Amino acid sequence: MFAYSLYCERQNKRIDWWMIDMKEISRPVIKEDHSSKFDGSAVYVGDWPTDGMLFGYFVRSTRAHARIRSISAPNLREGYFTVDHRDVPGQNCVHIILDDMPVFAGDTVEYIGEPILMVVGPDECVVRRIAASEIAVEYDDLPAVLNINDSVEELCAYRFDKGDADSAFKHADMVFEERFETGPQEQAYLETQGIIAEFRDGRVTLHGSMQCPYYVHEAVARALNFEPERVRVVQDVTGGGFGGKEDYPSILACQVSVAAIKAGGKPVRVILSRREDMSVTTKRHPSISRYRVSVKDGRVTGMDIDVVFDGGAYTTLSPAVLQRGLIAASAVYDIPNLKVRGRVVRTNTPPNGAFRGFGAPQTIFAAEMIMSHIARSLWEEPTAFKLRHAVSQGDKTSTGGRFHFPVPISEMMRDVSVMSQYHKKRDLYENGCGRFRRGIGMSMWLHGVGFTGSGERDIIKARVCLHKYPDGRVEVLASNTDIGQGVKTAFRKIAANELLLPQDMIIIQAPDTDRVPDSGPTVASRSVAIVGELIRSASRRLREDWRDGADQVVEEQYAEPDFIIPFSLDKFSGDAYPAYSWGVCAVELQVDSLTGVSEVVGVWASFDVGTPIDINIVMGQMEGGILQGLGYAFMERIPPDGHGRILNDNFADYAIPTASDVPNIQVKIHEMESSVGPYGAKGAGELPLVGVPAAYIEAMEHALGGRRINHIPFGASDVLDALSKAPQMEVM
Ligand code: MOS
Repeated sequence: MFAYSLYCERQNKRIDWWMIDMKEISRPVIKEDHSSKFDGSAVYVGDWPTDGMLFGYFVRSTRAHARIRSISAPNLREGYFTVDHRDVPGQNCVHIILDDMPVFAGDTVEYIGEPILMVVGPDECVVRRIAASEIAVEYDDLPAVLNINDSVEELCAYRFDKGDADSAFKHADMVFEERFETGPQEQAYLETQGIIAEFRDGRVTLHGSMQCPYYVHEAVARALNFEPERVRVVQDVTGGGFGGKEDYPSILACQVSVAAIKAGGKPVRVILSRREDMSVTTKRHPSISRYRVSVKDGRVTGMDIDVVFDGGAYTTLSPAVLQRGLIAASAVYDIPNLKVRGRVVRTNTPPNGAFRGFGAPQTIFAAEMIMSHIARSLWEEPTAFKLRHAVSQGDKTSTGGRFHFPVPISEMMRDVSVMSQYHKKRDLYENGCGRFRRGIGMSMWLHGVGFTGSGERDIIKARVCLHKYPDGRVEVLASNTDIGQGVKTAFRKIAANELLLPQDMIIIQAPDTDRVPDSGPTVASRSVAIVGELIRSASRRLREDWRDGADQVVEEQYAEPDFIIPFSLDKFSGDAYPAYSWGVCAVELQVDSLTGVSEVVGVWASFDVGTPIDINIVMGQMEGGILQGLGYAFMERIPPDGHGRILNDNFADYAIPTASDVPNIQVKIHEMESSVGPYGAKGAGELPLVGVPAAYIEAMEHALGGRRINHIPFGASDVLDALSKAPQMEVM
């Protein structure tokens, strides 16, 4: 099956789907949330009636690192109170992976914006006024580490080897070495973080904007020291996540729950303002990667890779982010000898955390760039050089697992070359001069489906449940959240398809931990491939055992596929993922050499996500991911202010691509059935962002006469800087 989104270049709009042999499951349906979002009836956390509600607002640290000497609070008026670390009934830390982040700061503060206490009361304006002007915190400053290069404290570290890298370097003809940097990135979900909590009859009930209800559930139970039955978490309609609502809602939920315990049965609501949200919530980890690469007889024989991520002040999901980043560090290349080292270091800045791609965008950028640079040094066309090194089915992965399924990289590359007229443009724009210069670049990458390593088997152990009611309707009970990406629609389609029922006979609601089993979090491109497959097999069993008029319940639990080579986290060996999704992308841009401003002329991409469960949804993910990748490549930056404060905490000063920045994007879905997910589906959520920055930067290098670039974001001032220096000799 091939599906193209075709844009009419002149009108800049999609003119048609071109669908040949499209499977029934891939045909687009109206999204489950379409009408409610269109007519405004969707209830986000901010839409709940506020009668009788209390509002919370934080007093936050104004210091990057300090001991709290004193906090002076006035006698608050009737109905207002504060909550701080002394009010946390359980452990004063937010359970994520390591329990190192306090719910409220204790003796010290570790970053600007760290919550010290919350003022709670019935009038939101009064609450804010009290927090802003009536509470005084005195600090004794401590030395702050603001820069990744200055940090010596490790939050986590991993290392693994494959083959014998030392010997590869000893016998090499040539050794290349380069250092790459990537910047932070803000998830920029449309809806900011928000949670409402209410304590009644010994139970706390929370609802709000989130990706992972059971993460929130466990964190709150620990912070309150409650048995799990005394905590209930319900997802409200959620306006985007991109990873930013994977870890952060656990923090906010603990804080709001503690306030709710003190609120005498009244619900407490905290919704972050955009400025608060942008200045204190988790971002993508900035990174520095050093690559040493050995080449013998024109072939890369080894890589020695050292990766450092800036974790910010606390660990959050850093270990998981680093694991994925390191496993992806050799990208799509078959490198026989690998030495991979990585660590996340601590700085006194807001904790960094999950963001679409989970560490892979950082290392894939570095790997793609150095492969391209080596190719040019060897006078070989970069895409040919890369293809010569690409893995094939059956090859070993970086961790000694296997690529169990076909690797379609070369076909996808051929398609993208044709669509973009890559080779013609490579020649045409060579040695460009004059004010406006064009360039085209291409990158290729992979993305592992689902949790890294043995996480699905050992940690998540996903379960789903189907409830068939006597009237014949079937409810899908799973903890995965629709955050705009369309998972409810996908789950409903899978169940309907397998049960041979019309879509409207399938009920699917926002997850409520009182009702749904723990199917794991909505992360890591796992929902359709892993949980969707459980829904499919549960549906199959229900269909086979269907009894008219009966009330039936079917449960299904994850089992690791037989073909998996078990992963060991200690050794970093085995199959880190059951399957991989693949991407190839070409970016063409035009640079104004006078102003440095660049414009993306076009993006052509091919993605293999297995069988698309809904072509419209998949295309939305692909196009959106490309755009988010372009933002990461050249627009989005958080300049250091020297004090650990994020100054551009708003969308006027932090630029992300908007509708007017959308270039012509042409996406081809290279369909290949996988044998992991339902109907051959694989992961699609994170894939499209991951390799886009490399394609953009390769296009920029091409436009800039071969000047080497090794950092993102690469904006207008970087263009001017680069143009002020002489280009490298070799140009390809
Ligand atoms: Mo994520 S970065 O929500 O797996």
